[in-house]
Amino acid sequence: MTLLEAKQSLGIIGCGTMGEAIVRGILRSGGLAPTQIFASDARAEVAAALAANHGIRTGTDNLAVAMACDVALLAVKPHQMAAVLGNDAMRVALAHKLVISIAAGVRLEKLCGYLPKSATIRAMPNTPALIGEGMAGLARGKGTSDEQMALGLALFAAVGKSQEVDEAHMDIVTALVGSGPAFVFVMIDALADGAVRLGLRRDTAVAMAAQMVQGAARMVVQTGRHPAALKDQVTTPGGCTAAGLSVMEDGKIRSVLARTIEETARVAGKLG
Ligand SMILES: NC(=O)c1ccc[n+]([C@@H]2O[C@H](COP(=O)([O-])OP(=O)(O)OC[C@H]3O[C@@H](n4cnc5c(N)ncnc54)[C@H](OP(=O)(O)O)[C@@H]3O)[C@@H](O)[C@H]2O)c1
Repeated sequence: MTLLEAKQSLGIIGCGTMGEAIVRGILRSGGLAPTQIFASDARAEVAAALAANHGIRTGTDNLAVAMACDVALLAVKPHQMAAVLGNDAMRVALAHKLVISIAAGVRLEKLCGYLPKSATIRAMPNTPALIGEGMAGLARGKGTSDEQMALGLALFAAVGKSQEVDEAHMDIVTALVGSGPAFVFVMIDALADGAVRLGLRRDTAVAMAAQMVQGAARMVVQTGRHPAALKDQVTTPGGCTAAGLSVMEDGKIRSVLARTIEETARVAGKLG
């Protein structure tokens, strides 16, 4: 079921980096029409820019958005959640509606505490949603139906891929999916640095590194083969790739990347 087919209206509370990425991505994909989206942000200038850029209804009144929408997406920072949800009027406005929070580390138990009569989903998307290449993990609260979960999954599928996960795994998903793009951006920058050091132009190096990473990722997805098998396929015995891989192993690259996810997940668990 697509969101358009469901004929539901989406309310977005908090329109910073992620809120706007989701608005932009959903409109770009045709998942919803501009008239189906109503968004609010604490900053009047952010709300006004969003209306001007996307033709959606916006304002600074969270309660008006909560009352008008069928499905609410909470896209404020974890520490701003209490200011948004901690009042009776909001609890009443969102009762019997589907409420999806993308705040890192905010557990379903806490969301349900604020909104005992709402169906809740805790989601972790990422900024590639902006270009329709996002990934999102979604965990459902008690009482959230299969139909509501399908709607939540469809919302994020409009801007990439989405998958249901157990809430026990959400801090891991936060590290891998939510923070992951930052780690890959650093890798692209570092690979380009190496090429620049050897004389390649910076713009050429960044463009080539980025396309190479995209191609490699797509090969993993499209072939379904294990990344190690794909690596072996390009590693000629005694060749240059084998030499480069030795340098990566000297630098403990696998353990650095795996520990990056572990540490990020540990900190994500404390954010809520
Ligand atoms: N950025 C990512 O890559 C990413 C990825 C996955 C999930 N997330 C999650 O997404 C959420 C939003 O992150 P973000 O990076 O988009 O943050 P952000 O850019 O700071 O956006 C949050 C927006 O909400 C506004 N806001 C603050 N208090 C508000 C209130 N009471 N009512 C309405 N609007 C309010 C903020 O205004 P002010 O600037 O004035 O505070 C800001 O414009 C976070 O919980 C984060 O954990 C982020």
